Amino acid sequence: MAWYRANCRQLPWRGDIPVYRVWVSEVMLQQTQVKTVIPYYHKFMATWPDLKDLAAADLETVLKAWEGLGYYARARNLHKAAGIVVRDMGGIIPDDYKGFKNLPGVGDYIASAVLSIAGSKPHAVVDGNVKRVLARLLCVDTPVNHSAAHNAYKAIAASLLYEKDPGTYNQAIMELGALVCTPRRPDCDACPLVRECCACEQQATALFPRRTEK
Ligand code: ADE
Repeated sequence: MAWYRANCRQLPWRGDIPVYRVWVSEVMLQQTQVKTVIPYYHKFMATWPDLKDLAAADLETVLKAWEGLGYYARARNLHKAAGIVVRDMGGIIPDDYKGFKNLPGVGDYIASAVLSIAGSKPHAVVDGNVKRVLARLLCVDTPVNHSAAHNAYKAIAASLLYEKDPGTYNQAIMELGALVCTPRRPDCDACPLVRECCACEQQATALFPRRTEK
């Protein structure tokens, strides 16, 4: 986390911002790269600054704004979920895992990311970056493309979670995966975990995360 504070990118969805904004950013980031997301995020927030604005928008306009990001189900679900929160929940985004995850398009990744980052709730995030960092750190043998991978990595991530500040912790691991523990040529010299890293110790970073052949 000290590494993160000193090295994290200044991104428009970082800092003390409303849950709604964290939610939109994580939905965009789930399947799209940071540099692509940035201009879409700015435009989205300028058009629909608040959850109620998004709920009042018509779906076609939202889909239009999503053009270029792909995976349009994300936009449909987000719009639908905004409608549900505004109409049925008094405009209050649920701050509990079950309640939030019940909304359309909200899976374990979105629920954990949003509730930890915006609500300091103790949920560990597992995405591609997190799996890679953990697989190398602990020489995890579970292939990341195995059906059991998400739950296996989720359990590991949960066991390491820093519960006093889960949002910073989750973002720190994701950021480490994005900036240092990259898929190819990880910069182990710059890594704050180098002395604890199993794969680095074995000079085997290229072998992790494991994958099964298809
Ligand atoms: N990728 C997706 N969400 C992220 C976040 N909040 N921080 C770093 N990388 C991310």
